Amino acid sequence: MFSKQVLAWFQLHGRKDLPWQQNPDPYKIWVSEIMLQQTRVDTVIPYYQKFIQRFPNVRELADAGVDEILHYWAGLGYYARARNLHKTARQVCEFYQGRFPDDMKEMSALPGIGRSTAAAILALGFHQRHAILDGNVKRVLARYFAVEGWSGERKVEAQLWAHAESLLPISKGQIADYTQAMMDIGATLCTRVHPDCLSCPVQNGCKAFRQHRQHELPTAKPSRILPQREIQVAMVKDVQGAIWLEKRPPAGIWGGLYSFPEFVDDASLLEWLESRYGELAYRTQALPVMTHTFSHYRLHMHLKLVQLVGQSIGVMEDDAGVWYKAPCEKIGLAAPVRKVLRQAMLNTKESSHDTHGSMCKAE
Ligand code: ADE
Repeated sequence: MFSKQVLAWFQLHGRKDLPWQQNPDPYKIWVSEIMLQQTRVDTVIPYYQKFIQRFPNVRELADAGVDEILHYWAGLGYYARARNLHKTARQVCEFYQGRFPDDMKEMSALPGIGRSTAAAILALGFHQRHAILDGNVKRVLARYFAVEGWSGERKVEAQLWAHAESLLPISKGQIADYTQAMMDIGATLCTRVHPDCLSCPVQNGCKAFRQHRQHELPTAKPSRILPQREIQVAMVKDVQGAIWLEKRPPAGIWGGLYSFPEFVDDASLLEWLESRYGELAYRTQALPVMTHTFSHYRLHMHLKLVQLVGQSIGVMEDDAGVWYKAPCEKIGLAAPVRKVLRQAMLNTKESSHDTHGSMCKAE
């Protein structure tokens, strides 16, 4: 029943005019499947066309240098795919006389071809009955069967594979259309954020739809609970709007980049301010906390704006840093620091129309 509904939908709405569907052969299908592994169809099409024009068959590809292949791949990303493409082309020429193997085990042993890609090539190119399970199809099946749990877990993935295999049409003559249809339903209807359930051919059997849980399924990858760190940072501005930045030590976060002076707590910040600018006048104001997430912790920066009053900047220069003005942007700044600076500079411009000469400290 499921495959009948999917196939009927494919006749009316499936994609049948993609470039790799015109006079298809296993080579073209393989190239397209590798390009489509992490990339959307619309992006792939122009790359695919130029690639096939230059490398029309597996021998041309095997004989090419990897640099030229990478040149044709440039912009598609995930460059290991291009290097594996070259390796596979050479293996197909060396071990299979330039013909792709029509066996699941041999196909999935080739570089860059996992179980789902091998199944897609065998189904689309050789009309063999194999189930695919790419990201789009995982989403369709997780919803249809209301499978709980993140598909990166082996147990969950095994359940999805079993469901994928249970639904295949019996007839080999229909396997290519069915495979393409499953990809198309995942990519165009059963989308992550706004699934178009109204147009879905398998709505009546879909557990997520019946339970109103389309937006909960598939279960998202569990997010790691990151440790949190709080720091105090001082954004010292002189009367002309220049901001004091210090070079960070070479090791650790933002190593060697310029940033605001940083303190473990407010008392240390105030102590530093007093020792450095105590003789001069300044006013302070707390700014909204900025949070930056690193792979291993989350950093909350409590920003304190320190406005110096009526003081010449020359007095407070030292080798540890620079007085930053917009024209001196050649120094390395961490992304969140650059963001805060841009905002601070904008505020200065809005509140002052003075023009200044360069106030960058000498290197
Ligand atoms: N994604 C992966 N393979 C695909 C194909 N053959 N058509 C559309 N999207 C895909």
